[in-house]
Amino acid sequence: MNEISVPRPNNLDAFWMPYTDNKSFKDKPRMLARAEGMSYFTPEGREILDGTAGLWCCNAGHGRREIVEAIQKQAAIMDFAPTFQMGHPIAFEAAARVAEMTPEGMDRVFFVNSGSEAADTALKIALAWHKARGDSQRVRLVGRERGYHGVGFGGMSVGGIGGNRKQFGAQLPYVDHLPHTHGVPGNLFAKGQPENGANLAEVLENLVALHGDTIAAVMVEPLAGSTGVLVPPKGYLQKLREICTKHGILLIFDEVITGFGRIGANFGAERLGVTPDIMTMAKGLTNAAVPMGAVATSNQVYDTIVNGVPAGIELFHGYTYSGHPLAAAAAIATLELHRAEDLPGRARAMEPYFEDAAHSMRDVPGVIDVRNMGLVAGIELAPRAGKPTARAMDVFKTCFDKGVLTRVTGDIVALSPPLIVEKPHIDRLFGTLADAIRAVPA
Ligand SMILES: Cc1ncc(COP(=O)(O)O)c(C=O)c1O
Repeated sequence: MNEISVPRPNNLDAFWMPYTDNKSFKDKPRMLARAEGMSYFTPEGREILDGTAGLWCCNAGHGRREIVEAIQKQAAIMDFAPTFQMGHPIAFEAAARVAEMTPEGMDRVFFVNSGSEAADTALKIALAWHKARGDSQRVRLVGRERGYHGVGFGGMSVGGIGGNRKQFGAQLPYVDHLPHTHGVPGNLFAKGQPENGANLAEVLENLVALHGDTIAAVMVEPLAGSTGVLVPPKGYLQKLREICTKHGILLIFDEVITGFGRIGANFGAERLGVTPDIMTMAKGLTNAAVPMGAVATSNQVYDTIVNGVPAGIELFHGYTYSGHPLAAAAAIATLELHRAEDLPGRARAMEPYFEDAAHSMRDVPGVIDVRNMGLVAGIELAPRAGKPTARAMDVFKTCFDKGVLTRVTGDIVALSPPLIVEKPHIDRLFGTLADAIRAVPA
């Protein structure tokens, strides 16, 4: 393919890149300049097969004409309008479309701009709900080790990834964590939900025994993505739901990755058969074409907070860009594509082939576990002696050089392609990954 006409930076210094080893990147940059369907293209025109839907977000594939046109059209009609004490029709339309997809009775939607903002918003709504009911002593938030809920102070504190916290000292007070569900004996190379570990949810009873009626909410990812694809053990989320209900604790699902078809249903809640009180979403909501996140709540959570105030603002929270017109237009077009092309159904139909391909990695030397559900797989490598994470990073770089985009976290390689993926793409993704694992030093 010909070179693509894109701006050529002659200096990479100014952009302080997020979650990046800036020095090594700027030494040997990996640039993407264009995207279409299942692929990215480098500025030189080299094709890179997208094994990660960008960052778990371009579920409908890249450059979808319907989404592009909706954004273009909206930009010309109205670039921006506030949603504080004002409204514009497509923000309401977008919320109604989201509510059509959420579990029954979770029909109220608060718009934000990212997964991090969704996490912090969900936590604040939970606290406000208890306060509205006169349960002001419920201020404690419970997350889970290895959980990822973005980078705001709420999400970081309730999240359970040490590396994301250690530079910043202060965390929210009154936060506790459940144990993660990784490494339970008998669960290695499980296909879909592992058999063992539901009892880990019972640790919540210990926290209740310790803290009494001061716990406001428990927030977990139904399937933990960023920490390396941890699929919930069978019965685990059901148990968590039971204990939350029993003790008047709100259950929040962070569906930023699991939403919009990723695990073969509209949301993880649907696929895994457990309905939370509050759920967060972002990424796939607009196919990532314009940043947008959302928090869906049960009608009862909304009614309690909104009707609990006789007049005036009911929730002192919101963002300048909540319900931004371009994002709302992108969301409506994206959700229309989801419906018209049944992307969740597509993911479910492709799951067995993807699962077999993922588990074929078991035979590659150095692979110590494979986990999967829907169109997500985590392939865990034995770490290089004395250098944790180095082996997977080398695999990532080798895959990129060989034309496949993967994602690594620790010593785990995660694959989560757009839901329009076809069998030959899956063969190429796992074939390249296997070659790369074999090629890099153990
Ligand atoms: C479960 C979960 N929550 C929150 C976030 C944060 O989203 P963002 O990067 O849009 O702030 C992510 C991002 O990967 C995520 O996976």
